Amino acid sequence: MNNLQCEKCNQEFAIDTSQEVCDCGGLLEVRVDQPKLPLSDLKKLFEERYANRKRLEESGVWRYREMLPPFKDQEIVTRPEGNTPLYHHPLISKYAGIQSFWLKHEGENPTGSFKDRGMTVAMSRAKRKKSRAVACASTGNTSASLASYAALAQLPAMVFVPSGKIATGKLSQTLAYGAKTLLIRGDFDKAMSFVQEVCRKLDIELVNSINPFRLEGQKTIVWELLHQRNFDPPDWIVLPAGNLGNLSAFGKALLEARKWGFIKQLPRLAAIQAEGASPFFQSFAKNFSERISVQAKTIATAVQIGSPISFDRAVRSIRATNGIVITVNDQEILNAKAIIDRAGIGCEPASACTLAGVRKLVSENIIQANTQVVGILTGNLLKDPDTTLSFHNSEFKEIDDSYVNKPVEIPLDIKVVEKLLDTTA
Ligand code: F0G
Repeated sequence: MNNLQCEKCNQEFAIDTSQEVCDCGGLLEVRVDQPKLPLSDLKKLFEERYANRKRLEESGVWRYREMLPPFKDQEIVTRPEGNTPLYHHPLISKYAGIQSFWLKHEGENPTGSFKDRGMTVAMSRAKRKKSRAVACASTGNTSASLASYAALAQLPAMVFVPSGKIATGKLSQTLAYGAKTLLIRGDFDKAMSFVQEVCRKLDIELVNSINPFRLEGQKTIVWELLHQRNFDPPDWIVLPAGNLGNLSAFGKALLEARKWGFIKQLPRLAAIQAEGASPFFQSFAKNFSERISVQAKTIATAVQIGSPISFDRAVRSIRATNGIVITVNDQEILNAKAIIDRAGIGCEPASACTLAGVRKLVSENIIQANTQVVGILTGNLLKDPDTTLSFHNSEFKEIDDSYVNKPVEIPLDIKVVEKLLDTTA
């Protein structure tokens, strides 16, 4: 039976329980049954659905529905999401220091971040449960995704965001999609603990990644990337880490993929934190003997998180995959972002942790040159226009300005344009 189970004490819960966490404080996890179809039939099915492109089969989440908790077709709220590309670019490979390097761009989801993969599953469940309303705390992307999917599901939506600390693109999306947007004085961590209390007391469905259905949807980043690679796993998967939902989902997906025979070898997971928001890295450095919280501060506002909610699950992902956690500073993040942007792909600052992290791991010989690496870009370039503009107007100190593309004011004179043409790459 597909059901929910506490990760700490193993207590079981019905699939649509109103409980967010176990009485013992442990987080809940969906126990998905082993798919009934044999492996080869499942692989064939994924291929057929990819070709078919019907409403649900078109979704890069629901295409893999055998790996998810069961839903009836009519319960599903989808845009559809997923189907994100794997990019390979010489400029990026050179910067990373490794040839076999692909970037899976989750910022090319409908609302511009990987959150849509989790949101389609969490929102479908909220709709099925006829929830009174849905809510989340957010550094911006979850709130934009929630707002969009709640509007589709026609459920009332409320988001709690740290005032002045989320990027313009994300705030404007959230307002436009119609979610009641509540600005909290304080940081994301404050908003997160407040929204948990609000949801408990007012019987509202919490759709942060504490909600195990969010993680189920985010598992499909791994399923889709394995499918794209013909189920030949890379040696490493590298991703930014903030509230640790994605890292948790990736570990779960990989373990399930191995248990069900899709892959033999587990890729190693490398989680990259911003130096100023690195509680998980600090715990990792102490062999996870301590759960550490910090006051977070980084240019990558999406991961400005000091007390990550999915800590225990993420520890399991790192341990199970012989994974690693490192940090990169804001300067390294902005430089890596400039490279990804200049390659014509683009991403928001937090996503650039991935490339900055790979470059560091390659330079330290932890990732070896002859290995295959897939990095995850989590959010779209358009999410944070202010940071991009500040970069190109040279407003940051100590940043490599080789990729600064300053706008030029000109008179209406063709000679001036001709001169500029000579300096255009
Ligand atoms: N990258 C981006 C662009 C994000 O928006 C987030 C998280 C992360 C990375 C980190 O992922 O939390 O799974 O470790 N954003 C959340 C939000 C917290 O509210 O949008 P994680």
